[in-house]
Amino acid sequence: MSKMPKELIAHIVSQQVVGREYREMVLEVPDLKDVSPGQFVNLKVISTSFDPLLRRPFSVHHWEPVEKKIHLLYRIVGQGTSLLSHLPVGERMSLLAPLGRGFSLEGLTPETPTLLIAGGIGFAPLYFLACCLQERKVPFEIFLGGRSREDITGAEKIKKLTGHLPRITTEDGSLGEKGLVTVALEEYLDSCSVRIFPSQLFACGPNPMLEAVVDIAISQGNMPLQFSVESVMACGIGVCLGCVCRPFSENGYKKVCTDGPVFSA
Ligand code: FES
Repeated sequence: MSKMPKELIAHIVSQQVVGREYREMVLEVPDLKDVSPGQFVNLKVISTSFDPLLRRPFSVHHWEPVEKKIHLLYRIVGQGTSLLSHLPVGERMSLLAPLGRGFSLEGLTPETPTLLIAGGIGFAPLYFLACCLQERKVPFEIFLGGRSREDITGAEKIKKLTGHLPRITTEDGSLGEKGLVTVALEEYLDSCSVRIFPSQLFACGPNPMLEAVVDIAISQGNMPLQFSVESVMACGIGVCLGCVCRPFSENGYKKVCTDGPVFSA
């Protein structure tokens, strides 16, 4: 059984609308020491003025270590996230953090180009990863995909970080190229010169997207791939077995909260 992480107290610094269904919440967490890209937090509202929320997992979208601020990008999908979106600045939260196994940046250098593929809310952990890659001067391309323009929340952020817009695809063609992000990825890899051919893929998004990315990585000669799995979770610390699944690349069942959420292929 995993060691119970310490409960941390945080308060909301800001809540920003970044799309019809998407919000970015910034929390100040004075006692949080460090977080790695791909890790997540499990949070709960402390206040009694709102319906009690069960703990909910959220990928860390960005981390400001000096200011002790954690950014969470989330999609309003039900009662819990709807309540969350109405919480005011100053609201206190209880946080279990940092949780899970994040992305490994081992072996990545300015000579090892990488490629990031995000589907919808899958952009949440990949933006934090992109910031870390940029800091280490690891070259990367990022592909953002969604059903429509409403699901593309990070284009301007990436432009601000890298100086250029990411490659965008939407299934309905309302922004960027029309089609699936995985098709754009396949075309890119097929046309990529050796000099800029990615040494590694990183992905986060819905399961069908991840499944297609795993197939593409295999067809490209077993390219190293790390992917973050989205899952329903309760405890977030390996106790309840509510998150057990069989990631595409693994033999046997895994707990997403403690064996993942990042897995390798
Ligand atoms: Fe409880 Fe993973 S969420 S074991």
